[in-house]
Amino acid sequence: MADLRTQYMGIELKNPIVVGACSLSKQLDTIRQIEAAGAGALVIKSLFEEQIQLERAKLDEKLGEYDELYAEAVQLFPKSPHAGPKQHLHWIEETRKQVKLPLFASLNAVNEQIWIEYARQLAETGVNGLELNFYSLPLDPNLSSSEIEKRELDTFAKVRAAVKIPSAVKLHPYYTNMLAVATAFDRAGANALVLFNRLFQPDLSIEQEAERATLTLSDSRDAALTLRWTALLHGKLKADLVASTGVLTGKDAVKMILAGASSVQVVSALYKNKITAIGEILAGLTSWMEGKHYAALKDFRGKVSKQRVKDPWAFERGQYIKALLGFD
Ligand SMILES: Cc1cc2nc3c(=O)[nH]c(=O)nc-3n(C[C@H](O)[C@H](O)[C@H](O)COP(=O)(O)O)c2cc1C
Repeated sequence: MADLRTQYMGIELKNPIVVGACSLSKQLDTIRQIEAAGAGALVIKSLFEEQIQLERAKLDEKLGEYDELYAEAVQLFPKSPHAGPKQHLHWIEETRKQVKLPLFASLNAVNEQIWIEYARQLAETGVNGLELNFYSLPLDPNLSSSEIEKRELDTFAKVRAAVKIPSAVKLHPYYTNMLAVATAFDRAGANALVLFNRLFQPDLSIEQEAERATLTLSDSRDAALTLRWTALLHGKLKADLVASTGVLTGKDAVKMILAGASSVQVVSALYKNKITAIGEILAGLTSWMEGKHYAALKDFRGKVSKQRVKDPWAFERGQYIKALLGFD
């Protein structure tokens, strides 16, 4: 029997299949099914700053001051379960009591005070760790990328100091220098880095001549960026590397672990192939390990990372040039 044990944020997991933050974690029944299907851990859907601001605006008698933000937040969180921050926190506490698998909470905020206050409250729910999602769309043309990164790092350091449980940072793939940003979060004490958040892009309807919201699920081809940066970062950081985006099959999971991931997060796989996808990915991973006579994940983790491949150019410019010259 293959030994699939690994860790996320330093917390031991029985296997590397982590269900990433998404709406599936809104229902206790679904979380129970995810646990029964054998997932190693689950990240609960994020608490977003807009939810917090919405509740504040509702409580404020002078609602007029917040009209614009309120309207936006109402649109974003109309009547979904656990929509307010209080319900969200209470519901995580309840979920914690009902299931045994490691649970991680997720926060996506904007203002520093909200980051700190809600990271503390989420930590008090009994979750095993926090995933901090720093996605926000910079719209100020006078704000440099280094200033944005500095603010994120400062906020992270304060959150890290405010909570006792481990924290991971969920990064997006669009930083100018990924290695520098990942190294900086690692030095600031991130226990894991999730590579990457998938940013949902806008679309518009040419019939309605209006913008429309889209949510495109990943397929295995979307894993390329994650694979590259996992392979480049493996062995350079203390933080666990968690591969997210485009892991839909056992083979996808094997590739990420070969590149250096400690665990993989799956979301689209579950939306496309149902919760049974967890068992299928685990079966694919174990059958590959048996075929290759690997007894444990650690026997092949990072085997195809930049640190360990013979060609130092692989994953860098050489791959790009080889691909272009070799294409006929
Ligand atoms: C319906 C849906 C809801 C999501 N909600 C969140 C969320 O609340 N917080 C978050 O950090 N990511 C969220 N994500 C992003 C996923 O956690 C994940 O990063 C992304 O889907 C890429 O992984 P995948 O390729 O396995 O789908 C969501 C994704 C989907 C499809």
